[in-house]
Amino acid sequence: MMLSLQIPGLIRLHFRQACLRVPYSATITARGCKMATFTRVELDHPSRSCLLKHDDGNLIGTYPYVWLRDNCRCDKCFHPSSRGRLVLMGNLDPDILPDVAEVEDQTLNIRWPDDHRSQFPLSWLKEMQFSDMSEDPVSTPVRQFWGNEMQHKIPTFSFADILNKDKSLHDWIEALRVHGLALIKDAPHKEGAVLEIGKRISFLKTTHYGNTFQVLTKFEANNLAYTNAELGLHVDLPFNAYPPNIQMLHCIKQVHSTGGENQFCDGYKVAEDIKHVDPEVFRILTTIPVDFRDCGTEYNVYHVKHRSPIIQLLPDGRYKAISYNDQVRAPYIQIPVQDVYKIYQAIKMLNTELYKEENKIQIKLAEGDIVSFDNQRVLHGRSGFVVTETSERHLEGAYIDWDEACSRMRVIREKMLNEEPL
Ligand code: OGA
Ligand code: ZN
Ligand code: ZN
Repeated sequence: MMLSLQIPGLIRLHFRQACLRVPYSATITARGCKMATFTRVELDHPSRSCLLKHDDGNLIGTYPYVWLRDNCRCDKCFHPSSRGRLVLMGNLDPDILPDVAEVEDQTLNIRWPDDHRSQFPLSWLKEMQFSDMSEDPVSTPVRQFWGNEMQHKIPTFSFADILNKDKSLHDWIEALRVHGLALIKDAPHKEGAVLEIGKRISFLKTTHYGNTFQVLTKFEANNLAYTNAELGLHVDLPFNAYPPNIQMLHCIKQVHSTGGENQFCDGYKVAEDIKHVDPEVFRILTTIPVDFRDCGTEYNVYHVKHRSPIIQLLPDGRYKAISYNDQVRAPYIQIPVQDVYKIYQAIKMLNTELYKEENKIQIKLAEGDIVSFDNQRVLHGRSGFVVTETSERHLEGAYIDWDEACSRMRVIREKMLNEEPL
């Protein structure tokens, strides 16, 4: 399934018209402008702002004096190729007032008391509207929670398209932002495919399992994934303070007999259900921390540990992460002993919800499939399997962080829309 490229960023060009305060001082009118774009500026000292207005008096935007001085685009104040601010806070006066402001040739010109001159293209100012600045759709995706109905509608992409077409790369990352799960078909049946995808974005996140890791049945395994045992629904690396964001598992060899299937469950959907059904359990899961740890040898000798509530929220109540993994839950829990029974009860309820048929899906990866998912939202598991002389199983795994993936999305969108970053 290819998702369409919607560019809500264009909403930035929509301006609200609002009532305004009575201006304090002079009105300077634009000269030589076409009627349709006729704009004037008023200095509104009570609000310490320039008011940009249409000639009929309707407000285009309010631009605080200090912000204008701070964002002067002249070459003494701003370094264009690095987009770096040269004016440091130490030299900025929050109480600064312009001497003169006028609009001419679609540019706001300001003279400051020290005779410094600033010029702001109106098109740039319109993009910088404070109250109307729409949220960056890449940073703030509209997530769609899912249950078992996802079984037959997993967003699916072709490996070749992701490697060769920017739009497919963009749509794949967008699917991960929105649904948290996507399948990539027809990768080569050998190691290296996840690295190639990582390079398309930028770079993979190296962890103590390496830049990529081989999920094979290993002798004296340092991780339960490197055995043929069942893996309960989990997120990877909850023992890291900064766990990897996106996970890819590339199926290079699959077992032919039964077993080796993968399960997936939208942790945010389940958290949302718990919030409504049992707010007290939700409170416990969002506040009482649980300990995770991992020690062994792979890329290096490691002993990492981290504790966090299983459901983590952002200050505005949206979900930040799910942190749940029985395999690496530590035997110690650094909480008051009277909270121990409570947290086990709450985890048990979460676990029961995760495994409900209506919440989870199961797929058996074919050789050449890469399953990708939001490792802080979607839990994954694996059925146990039998290794024989003729049938072994081999996945190659890798991680990518949102910083890199979102950056690639923005760059692709800017290229498609011919937009300059602000
Ligand atoms: C892992 C993992 C699943 C599988 O390596 O983290 O969960 O199918 N593997 O082997
Ligand atoms: Zn300047
Ligand atoms: Zn895993």
